[in-house]
Amino acid sequence: MKVLVVGGGGREHAIVWKISQSPKVSKIYCAPGNGGISDIAECVDIRATDIDGMVQFAKDKQIDLTVVAPDDPLALGMVDALEAEGLKAFGPAKNAAQIESSKVFAKRLMKKYSIPTAEYEVFDDYEKAVEYIKTAEYPLVIKADGLALGKGVIIAENREKAEEALKAIMVEKIFGNSGNQVVIEEFLTGTEGSVLAFTDGKTIIPMVSSQDHKRAYDGDKGPNTGGMGTFSPSRVYTPDIAKEVEKNIMEPTIKAMEQEGCPFKGVLYFGLILTDKGVKVLEYNARFGDPETQVILPRLKTDLIDIFLAIIDGELDKIDIQWEDNAAVCVILASGGYPGDYKKGYEIFGIEALENCPDTLIFHAGTTKKNGKYYTNGGRVLGITAVAENLDKAIEKAYEKVKLVSFTDMYYRTDIGIK
Ligand code: AMP
Ligand code: GLY
Repeated sequence: MKVLVVGGGGREHAIVWKISQSPKVSKIYCAPGNGGISDIAECVDIRATDIDGMVQFAKDKQIDLTVVAPDDPLALGMVDALEAEGLKAFGPAKNAAQIESSKVFAKRLMKKYSIPTAEYEVFDDYEKAVEYIKTAEYPLVIKADGLALGKGVIIAENREKAEEALKAIMVEKIFGNSGNQVVIEEFLTGTEGSVLAFTDGKTIIPMVSSQDHKRAYDGDKGPNTGGMGTFSPSRVYTPDIAKEVEKNIMEPTIKAMEQEGCPFKGVLYFGLILTDKGVKVLEYNARFGDPETQVILPRLKTDLIDIFLAIIDGELDKIDIQWEDNAAVCVILASGGYPGDYKKGYEIFGIEALENCPDTLIFHAGTTKKNGKYYTNGGRVLGITAVAENLDKAIEKAYEKVKLVSFTDMYYRTDIGIK
């Protein structure tokens, strides 16, 4: 099979790495890919959001399967566009991807189908939203409706902060049209966790649990990022909680999507919070998480291509998905300044030393390769994943390896997996 993977971050590197092990796969393309991906796949210079360009490429190369990994091409309908040309594609259709691309859609779905989540109101009028926050209880959570690079959620401690957030989102439009509507919701307290699942729209099969660290600095300090590290399994996601989530959240969600006329096929990511009133949904993502994927796929025994094809064919119930009984940790090495401004183009040293270490994987995120050397090319540069028999050993191994890599202004958290 010829496979095309859409995207160019650490998540896509992990997907390409995993499918390169499938005996069914003869050739992998990745668009746009990155420096590390170019070592195991042919990178193609097409933007992940270029629907027409991607469809044309898939047609020209007679691609047997296109895997659409990032949120924005899914929200733009890349899977629909590929399927309209008779091409096989993995990922939810545009109407199903709304579960991530519109928080208003997701909240209304949860309310209608009694899926536990925070209480909320929706506003498309700035004045009305400002009126509402005058009498609300604080802290209060304000969310832009649409995609906002993970920055669209603001936790307001008081009325001034809430008003500032509303103004930024609805008047100044810092997230563009994503701020045409806002969700204002109740602040929940509890431990956060996430679990991803494979679903063909009828059957849903959870993956092993994982947890990410969103804040930039140790001790969960500093600004929110795309994710500074992950570990799997989660320390809080017990079998009892897993059962509760499957019954009260996962099954009802896929039934709800089917009833709404937008059956979800692909990977569904449940961002959860364990409150004293049970587990509630904070958010859904319509795709693999980044960097969750970098600790989940190394634990997967089953051929990922078999899972993708079973989902596309609506036969997920016929497949037995197997996991290793081990643990994995991924530490992200970032450019100084990230998630704010940072410089690119620094040479990365030490990658070769890691290349053949057992149970260590380097997933490139923001890198390029020129004349055999790797250079930084993004905020999150590399993810170092270590696999071991338990979490503590995986943490130790990951940090041992992190020390071998360096580039100018590199920074990372030293407490991944510890919380
Ligand atoms: P989201 O993108 O919706 O997951 O929100 C990003 C982060 O904001 C979450 O991981 C939580 O830490 C926080 N958050 C979102 N909604 C709430 C809420 N209702 N109560 C407390 N924290 C929240
Ligand atoms: N790590 C969170 C996400 O992929 O959205």
